[in-house]
Amino acid sequence: MLIQIAPPAVEAVVLPPVDPAAPVMIRPARIADMLQVEPLINDFAAQNLMLPKTREILVRQFREFVVAADDRGRVLGCGGLRIFSPTLAEIISLAVDPAAHGLGLGGRVVERLMEDAETLGITTVFALTLRDGFFHRLGFHTVSKEMFPAKVWADCRNCPKLHACDEIAVMRETAAAGGLS
Ligand SMILES: CC(C)(COP(=O)(O)OP(=O)(O)OC[C@H]1O[C@@H](n2cnc3c(N)ncnc32)[C@H](O)[C@@H]1OP(=O)(O)O)[C@@H](O)C(=O)NCCC(=O)NCCS
Repeated sequence: MLIQIAPPAVEAVVLPPVDPAAPVMIRPARIADMLQVEPLINDFAAQNLMLPKTREILVRQFREFVVAADDRGRVLGCGGLRIFSPTLAEIISLAVDPAAHGLGLGGRVVERLMEDAETLGITTVFALTLRDGFFHRLGFHTVSKEMFPAKVWADCRNCPKLHACDEIAVMRETAAAGGLS
C-alpha cells in the first residue's frame, strides 16, 4: 500500500491590524529582527522605492540598524546609520510597514538615528531619498549629491537605477556640529 504523505499546508501569515495606540519602542536591532526587516525593505524595493537587501547582508549589517518594534516583537519600521568618516554618516534603509504609516514611526526612527550619530561625534547626516518632503519636515535640506565622497556610492554599483538615479540628497547637521555635546 502506498502511503502518501502530504506536505503541511502553508498558509499565508495574516498579521493583525496595527493598533495606533499600542506602545512602540525604537531600539537597536537584534539579529532575529532582521528576518522581519527583510520583507519590509524588499517589498518597497520591488516598487523601486529603495535598494533591495538580501537577508544575508542584513544579518551581517544588523548593528547599523534600529527598529520600531511593538511589545510583541513585531517590527513595524527600521532604519540604519552607515558611518563613512568620523564626521559623516548616512541614513540607510528607512522603511515603515504600510499598516503603520503616518503614526510618526518614520520620524522617530530618523530622530533616534540622529541622536546615535550625535553621540558618536558625527556632525553631518545625509540620506538619498525619493521622500525629500518627509525629510524636509524633519529639518533636513536638499544638497548636491556631488558633495559626498566617492565611497558613499559603493552601494550604487548594484542599483538598477545606476545611470538614471532619481534620488535626492538631503542632509542635516547634528548638535555635535556646533560643539554642543
Ligand atoms: C518614508 C516613510 C519611512 C515614512 O514613514 P512614516 O512612519 O509614515 O513617517 P511619519 O509618520 O513619521 O511621517 C509621515 C507623515 O505622517 C505625518 N505624521 C507624523 N506623525 C503623525 C501623527 N501622529 N498623526 C498623523 N500624521 C502624522 C507626518 O507629517 C508625515 O507627513 P508627510 O508624509 O507629508 O511627510 C514611509 O512612508 C516608508 O516606509 N516609505 C517607503 C520607503 C521609503 O520611501 N523610504 C525612504 C527611503 S530614504
